[in-house]
Amino acid sequence: MKKLLIIYHSQTGNTRQLAESALAGAQLEDQCASRLLTAPDAELEDLLWCDGLIIASPENFGTMCGLVKDFFDRTYYPAEPYALNRPYGLLVSAGNDGSGAIREMDRILCGYPMKKVLPDVIAKGEIQAAHMQAAAESGEGLASGLVLGIF
Ligand SMILES: Cc1cc2nc3c(=O)[nH]c(=O)nc-3n(C[C@H](O)[C@H](O)[C@H](O)COP(=O)(O)O)c2cc1C
Repeated sequence: MKKLLIIYHSQTGNTRQLAESALAGAQLEDQCASRLLTAPDAELEDLLWCDGLIIASPENFGTMCGLVKDFFDRTYYPAEPYALNRPYGLLVSAGNDGSGAIREMDRILCGYPMKKVLPDVIAKGEIQAAHMQAAAESGEGLASGLVLGIF
């Protein structure tokens, strides 16, 4: 069994919808176990558990939200000795931009080091069906890629 972890934070529910959609997509792959965790609940052990990772964050003040940043703050140095190199994808909910959150999370994740393997999903404004579809495809794509040994 491969293992996929989705970590998210959401204040008003938009990012949570994306994260849950990614989980539903990942669960279509029955040879991959998938877990959804909020950022404050996620620990180094969860990173060590997973074979692939999706992080979902709102964009706040041009970057990731504080609780996703806190997750990175808590796990970055403890993860260093493990050279994780896990494949990852990003989901961002934003009022009108989202690019800053993507850019800053990529900068941090590349230091773990991890490798981005999915197209970014940026949902601007209210969550639409197309955003949910893209998030589901991220989850399914990562899960399938892990099972097939592509990533
Ligand atoms: C404190 C704060 C800062 C924000 N900063 C940005 C921003 O820099 N760029 C942007 O596009 N949206 C910004 N937004 C809008 C949120 O990204 C947007 O409402 C998002 O859908 C919230 O996701 P959530 O429902 O998962 O909390 C901000 C919202 C808040 C509350």
